[in-house]
Amino acid sequence: MPGTAARSLSIHRQGSRREWPVAVKTRIALFGPPGSGKGTQAKYLAECWELRHISTGLILRQAIAAKTSVGRKAEVYMNKGDLVPDHLVHQVVEDSLGQVGYDNFVLDGYPRRLLQAQQLDKILGERGRHLDMVLLLTLPTEIIVKRLTRRRVHKLTGEVFHLDYKPPTGIDPKLLVLRPDDRRDVVWERLRVYRAQTQPVEDWYRKRGLLIEIDADGSIDEVHERVDLALAGGSP
Ligand code: AP5
Repeated sequence: MPGTAARSLSIHRQGSRREWPVAVKTRIALFGPPGSGKGTQAKYLAECWELRHISTGLILRQAIAAKTSVGRKAEVYMNKGDLVPDHLVHQVVEDSLGQVGYDNFVLDGYPRRLLQAQQLDKILGERGRHLDMVLLLTLPTEIIVKRLTRRRVHKLTGEVFHLDYKPPTGIDPKLLVLRPDDRRDVVWERLRVYRAQTQPVEDWYRKRGLLIEIDADGSIDEVHERVDLALAGGSP
């Protein structure tokens, strides 16, 4: 099963835009602390590289909105900043990967525990596949807190804005909401949980040679370019 696909990479460099054909990785996991820009970059990858965006956080929030049994159980954990139990997330991921045929995907927010990383290996391995690349977005804590506490989500479309960096121009402020887990106290708890439970997974992927670190401190476009380069096998 091929883990790469021929695409045309377009990168803005020194005042001009260059395009050249590349073989990009197509089974990718985006990794990084809350607010490091996983959702923003995953959406971009999905649009520009024709990958399917699988965000466990988004799927769980949709389940909460739809008041499903998974949603009701997950909500209690999410609103406190805790991770949702593995068995609930596992089903969500297995279904989503099945829907995309186990290829051409970017996972956003999964895996988040060692057990989840092992489960992912098993799901893919049983179909003769494996992850091609894990992109770790890194960002200092003080910037993370600003990005999350000033993030706003459109109530109807789900579009993600930032009051300073991606302003919701012309949108009725009543339609813009703060995620319940973006309250400052919950953000600190999410960061603590990330360090305790998710960071060990970084090392697991690093030892396997799959992890590529990307400096996520920069404008959204600058980070897009670093991600593009990483996908195309260059140095971010
Ligand atoms: P999830 O939704 O995955 O939350 P998260 O990992 O904490 O990440 P965020 O969505 O908060 O941030 P992001 O990194 O996507 O940043 P974004 O691009 O939005 O999970 C939520 C919860 O679900 C978890 O806490 C857990 O309870 C549960 N869950 C999910 N997956 C699970 C799993 N596998 N196991 C167990 N539980 C699970 O950017 C943030 C803001 O910054 C935005 O406003 C954006 O516009 C702005 N921004 C982005 N990039 C830039 C930039 N370069 N410059 C300036 N602003 C930027």
